[in-house]
Amino acid sequence: MTTYRIYKLTDRVYLLRLDDTDTRFFEGIWPIPEGITYNAYIVMTSEGAILIDGWKREFSSIFIDAIESIIDLRDIKKIIVQHTEPDHTGTLNILLRLLENVELLGTQFAKSMLEGFLGRSLPNFRPLKDGEKIVLGDVELTFIHTPWLHWPDTAMTYYADEKILFTCDAFGGYSIPRSFIDSSDSVIEEYLPHARDYFANIVAKYSQHVIKAVDKLVSIGINYRIIAPGHGLVWVNKPDIIVRSYLAWARGERFSGKFKVVVIYSSMYGNVEEMIMSIVKKLEEKDIELKIYKFTDKVHSNKSDVLGDSLDSDLIVLGASTYEGSLNPLIDNLVSMICSKFKGLRKRFIIISSYGWASSADKELTRRLSEAGMEILKNVTYRGRPSRDLMDKISEEISKIVDELRRA
Ligand code: FEO
Repeated sequence: MTTYRIYKLTDRVYLLRLDDTDTRFFEGIWPIPEGITYNAYIVMTSEGAILIDGWKREFSSIFIDAIESIIDLRDIKKIIVQHTEPDHTGTLNILLRLLENVELLGTQFAKSMLEGFLGRSLPNFRPLKDGEKIVLGDVELTFIHTPWLHWPDTAMTYYADEKILFTCDAFGGYSIPRSFIDSSDSVIEEYLPHARDYFANIVAKYSQHVIKAVDKLVSIGINYRIIAPGHGLVWVNKPDIIVRSYLAWARGERFSGKFKVVVIYSSMYGNVEEMIMSIVKKLEEKDIELKIYKFTDKVHSNKSDVLGDSLDSDLIVLGASTYEGSLNPLIDNLVSMICSKFKGLRKRFIIISSYGWASSADKELTRRLSEAGMEILKNVTYRGRPSRDLMDKISEEISKIVDELRRA
C-alpha cells in the first residue's frame, strides 16, 4: 500500500518519503514491480522552513499531512525545485494554493517548464544562478546547476554546515528500500541493482553529464557527508558507493562483481531458443554471472531489468527471430532503447538469428548496433531450426570468445 514515512536525517533536516506501490510503470514505460519512493526534504531554520522538492500530484493531500506532521505548513518560506518532472513537482499546485507568498527557487529552465506543467504563471519564482546562496534565518544553502541529469532544468543543493548534498534524480534509484538510509551492507547490496536499473532507464542517455557533474562537484569543493536523492536510499554511511556506482554505469561498466554475460532473446517457435540454450549450457560451466531475458510465447521479461543488466554487462548475446522481413518487434523496441540510451558506450554483442524465407534480422541488428557504435563480435544466422552440429560449433566458439574477453 502506498504510504508516507518521515525520517529525521539530522537535527535540522527531515526526509519525507512517499513509498509508491501504485505506479507499475515509471514514466508510463518502465516496469517497476519493486515500486519507487519520492523523497522530499524539509530544512528547519531560525526563521521558518525550506522545502526541497515534492511528490507526484495524486499524493498531494497526504503530502500536506506529511508536512504538517513535522511543522505548521505556513512555516514553509521557500521551496527549492531541483527538477520539474511531475514526480517531484506534482504536489506544488496544492502548496501554492495554501501558501500564497511562498518563494519558489530553481533554474531559469525550471521556471518556464514548471509554468507549463502547472498551467499557471509563477510570479514568486526566482531563478537562481549557478553557485547562488539561498539564505533563510541561520541556514545557508548553495544552489548548483547540474544540467541534463536528466533534463535541462536539473540542479543540486548543498547544505555546507551539515555537509548534505540534495541531488533529486541524480544518485537515485528504483524500489522501496527497507531502510531510509544505507544502514548495512545488505541494504546496499539489495538496493544497488534497482539503482542501476533506474540509471539505465532514466539517466544513461546523459551519462557524459553525470561524469561532468561529478567533476564539477569535486572542482568546486563540495565535501558531502550525506547524499540525499529524490528517489530511493539516502546515503549517510557510504555516500561514495552511489557516486562511484553512477560513474561506473556512466562508462557502461560494472561497479563490482564477476564478468557478466547477458543473454536476451525472442523466440516464436523455439528455433532461436534452442541455439540460445545450447550457448547458455556452455557458459554455465564458467565462473561468470549469467543473466537471461526472454520474449517467448510463455514469458516476457521485465525490460527495466533487461536494460539495467545490459548497461553494466561485459558481453550481450542477442538472439532474435525474424519477423515480417525485419526484427521481432519486441527485440526491435529493446534494441532501439539500447542504441539510444547506451550510444557511445561501446557495448559488445554477439548476434544470433533464425529466419524462414530471408535472413533480415541479422542485417537489421548489425546496421543498428554498428550505427550506435556498438561492437559486434560475432553474427550467426540460420534457416529454421539449428542443427546439433551448428549448436555445438557456435557454443564452442562463443565459449572461446568469453574466455578471451575474461583474459583481456
Ligand atoms: Fe524523478 Fe526526472 O524525475
